[in-house]
Amino acid sequence: MAAIHGPRWLRWPSEPARRRLAYGADYNPEQWPREVWEEDVLAMRQAGVNIVSLAIFSWARLQPSADRWDFGWLDQVMDLLHAHGIAVDLATATASPPPWLTAAHPEILPVGHDGRTLWPGARQHWRPTSPVFREHALRLVRAMAERYGSHPALAAWHVNNELGCHNVYDYSDDAATAFRVWLRERYGTVEELNRAWATSFWSQAYGDWAEILPPRLAASYPNPTQQLDFKRFSSDALKHYLRAEREVLTELTPDIPVTTNFMVMGDTKGMNFADWAREVDFVSNDHYLLDGERDELSFSANLTGRLANGDPWFLMEHSTSAVNWQPVNLAKQPGGMVRDSLTHVAYGADAVCFFQWRQSAGGAEKYHSAMVPHAGTDSEVFRSVVDLGATLEALAPIAGTRRRRAQAAIVFDWDSWWASELDSHPTSRLRYRQEALDWYTAFAAAGVRVDVIGSAGEFAHYDLLVAPILHVVPQALADRLTAYVGGGGHLVTTYFSGIVNEHDHVWLGGYPGALRELLGLRIEEFGPLRDGDRVHLDLGVSGTLWSDRIDVTDPDVKIVASYTSGDHTGRPAITTRLAGAGSASYVSTRLGPDGLGPVLAELLAVSGVRPELPEAVAGAVELAVRTGDDADYWFLINRTDESVAVDGVTGEVLRAPCLAEGLTLGPREVCVLRRPH
Ligand code: GLA
Ligand code: GLA
Repeated sequence: MAAIHGPRWLRWPSEPARRRLAYGADYNPEQWPREVWEEDVLAMRQAGVNIVSLAIFSWARLQPSADRWDFGWLDQVMDLLHAHGIAVDLATATASPPPWLTAAHPEILPVGHDGRTLWPGARQHWRPTSPVFREHALRLVRAMAERYGSHPALAAWHVNNELGCHNVYDYSDDAATAFRVWLRERYGTVEELNRAWATSFWSQAYGDWAEILPPRLAASYPNPTQQLDFKRFSSDALKHYLRAEREVLTELTPDIPVTTNFMVMGDTKGMNFADWAREVDFVSNDHYLLDGERDELSFSANLTGRLANGDPWFLMEHSTSAVNWQPVNLAKQPGGMVRDSLTHVAYGADAVCFFQWRQSAGGAEKYHSAMVPHAGTDSEVFRSVVDLGATLEALAPIAGTRRRRAQAAIVFDWDSWWASELDSHPTSRLRYRQEALDWYTAFAAAGVRVDVIGSAGEFAHYDLLVAPILHVVPQALADRLTAYVGGGGHLVTTYFSGIVNEHDHVWLGGYPGALRELLGLRIEEFGPLRDGDRVHLDLGVSGTLWSDRIDVTDPDVKIVASYTSGDHTGRPAITTRLAGAGSASYVSTRLGPDGLGPVLAELLAVSGVRPELPEAVAGAVELAVRTGDDADYWFLINRTDESVAVDGVTGEVLRAPCLAEGLTLGPREVCVLRRPH
């Protein structure tokens, strides 16, 4: 069996050595009568669907009461799919506990920070740390593995679903107990915890583990380190739950890969997916396009691919058209769905799947688009679904190829995300992810490829490293960054970086604390800006949100830009310290994607990072590159709603539409070129 992907990928039921991309959806046949299933599989074949995620919300149907099981219908669905050559990513079905379970065991229900219990009636109403929930859920996992572990359609296990989508923060007594265990492991003694949490402040010193609680609704700001540790703990609690399901699965079916769908997307920030990535056999992600935020899609796909270490990953869910949970839910424009799908593929996805196969007639998500819409298969949506299936077939040669690294990277760090946005800070307006995204858009506008990496990533691969709002900098991270610059790397960081250590304690002696020497500057007081206030820089750009009163402390610091308005007029706003072949730069205000343009141009010049596409299309066309044994694959993605002519780029066209007029990309179109090594 030739390994295109190696063992950590889908176990295809037939022709495992054939290159192919996975294509399909969540399939919820329990919502439909039996006759519809037959129609479903035929339409799936017509669309080129080769995999579905099954049984995600089937617990109540599979186990109608504590001691009754009903697998007959699922047996039929599995057999039917297999007979039509469709593989199954089979869920463990534990995502939504059935009413009989919550009625018998209300102690599995999550509790909010205000002590209010969340009732059943929606989904994911379970405590990640509940031993009772775990016992019942693992019994179901075992039953699923025993029943379907050797079913020929089974290609992968899908643990639960979107762990933490609704239940990441639970403040129940179960959570309190588990939090104490977690803290004991982290700190060893109560004295050590008291030091880390700075409990001499506000008379919070603990004498015994039993006194410690989750940061429940309190009279004022709960202890910030307690809050930060609770975020870490809550991510870990779900990770440990994931592990518990995985252990049952690998015990019973060691040859079936295990995955779960992450949510690297938008403001979903409760789960540290950089830390979860090694818990699964392959990374899966769900992503939904937020209104007008196309670069956010690219950013999330990019980060997901790097969390997967450049290996192929599985796009488990996105939407064919509108969703139902944004304030206003817009249908996608023509070409939008294909562009979204292929952008994920460009950043390493070897699977393109949707929520869901057939749009529901009832239930909370009936206005959420699907592969087969309410209108049926005689519809624009279904025709584009069929078209996408054909496109993915044409792209089969890229299956198994890896991401080609960019010369530059943006560092994305969950600890900094969590800590920089805690309460009682210089401003409540700071948005960690938005600053990172602004830089990403600035790179896209400059036509330069950039990777989005976790903070544990290998910095030395990159000539230019942007670490926006790198707020939490433990000594080891400061050392890594210093070594990076010492090795000739070009580091850029921004306001509110280097401020605290891993315990959220301020590095003393002046900001930016841990990075003060590396940057060669010192700041005594923060200068947050009021809403609507702007500071101007002599570079012709202006900043919002923040400013700093910078003192330069190192003669090798060059002032890149100075303030021409505001409290710090005449003082440095952007600096670069030259250190041997490397450099360390600081941007002290929020410039936004446009304002970052001229700054980035300078940084690109200093670090020798070059665009790979012709300058004429910079900003209009996004480039992502995958690489195989004998060729690179260039994805040219039209970021705009206009046609763009791309001259001077050669390669064998793998995807047809851009052939129409030579290398002209229609609005939202994507062209894939094969370029032999
Ligand atoms: C999530 C869930 C799906 C569905 C979609 C709707 O991704 O996993 O079950 O609710 O959202 O966008
Ligand atoms: C009050 C309290 C102080 C301190 C300040 C902060 O005055 O008495 O302990 O919290 O607010 O502004």
